Amino acid sequence: MLRDIQDEIIRIKKEKDICILAHSYQAREILEVADFSGDSFQLSVMAQKAPQKNVIMCGVRFMAETVKVLSPQKTVYLANPIAGCPMAEQMDKEMISMVKEQYPDYTVVAYINTTTDLKTVCDVCVTSSSAVKIVTNIENDKILFIPDSNLGRYVAEQVPEKTFKILQGGCPIHASVTANEAVKAKEIHPDALLLVHPECLPEVVRHADFVGSTSEIMKFAKSSDNKEFIIGTEVSIAEHLQYECPDKRFFFLSQKLMCQNMKSTTLIDVYDCVLGRGGEEIIIDEQTRLKAKKCIDEMIRLG
Ligand code: 13P
Ligand code: SF4
Repeated sequence: MLRDIQDEIIRIKKEKDICILAHSYQAREILEVADFSGDSFQLSVMAQKAPQKNVIMCGVRFMAETVKVLSPQKTVYLANPIAGCPMAEQMDKEMISMVKEQYPDYTVVAYINTTTDLKTVCDVCVTSSSAVKIVTNIENDKILFIPDSNLGRYVAEQVPEKTFKILQGGCPIHASVTANEAVKAKEIHPDALLLVHPECLPEVVRHADFVGSTSEIMKFAKSSDNKEFIIGTEVSIAEHLQYECPDKRFFFLSQKLMCQNMKSTTLIDVYDCVLGRGGEEIIIDEQTRLKAKKCIDEMIRLG
């Protein structure tokens, strides 16, 4: 049954010239029908490279918006319209415009988990895998970092030569993990390496053996000689790794690391979307798109 639906999706997407992009937090059955899966940075790059006329994003809204900003000639759908990212909604354009007046000589660095509207008043985007490199490469040494304060503090530690103003926002899922949970997990699994996403609190990151984006965590775990890992990011990453590396063992850092927004997209949503009876087409006005594009183009140039 599942296989039949997957086969149909694959047949229809070819027939209708559709590219399916999936964030790595999506369920396995969705990754299997995707043309490409990866972290936020890789998805942005693929958004431009994909030759198809139509794109379906299996992820959250800001990811679909990023595809549309970069490829306006493509018809872009968000597979499930309710999939938003709470962090992306935490700050708006008006708020950041006011903050910029206070810090006019700072470069505004926005995590890609922001709305297109907010990106129009920012200078450059970053993702978790590209943030350190991009901030290092920015000519200015004064950085105003929004909205993820945990990622901001992590980057500030890695780039100590720059001055940071960090606004208070972040991912409610990753930020819910406590240092105590990290200590306990290491006690229970003493042979396991702790791999943590920089959206986690600094006191959790401090216990990590490796810090990286979704894809970097997966790459590290696959290539490491170690046999056991505690995964400090969304639970699906531990599940995908367990499937791909049956000779290794993967443990969740916390059961709280489950993003309901990422999990809201189902294979049936993807099926309905390829059939043209589901999903939401992403529409962005041209003036907003062009302003937001500068910020994303800068990310690709500096990353
Ligand atoms: P990355 O895909 O950049 O690791 O980001 C994780 C995340 O929370 C995406 O919403
Ligand atoms: Fe947003 Fe966090 Fe979910 Fe990623 S894991 S989509 S940052 S709420």
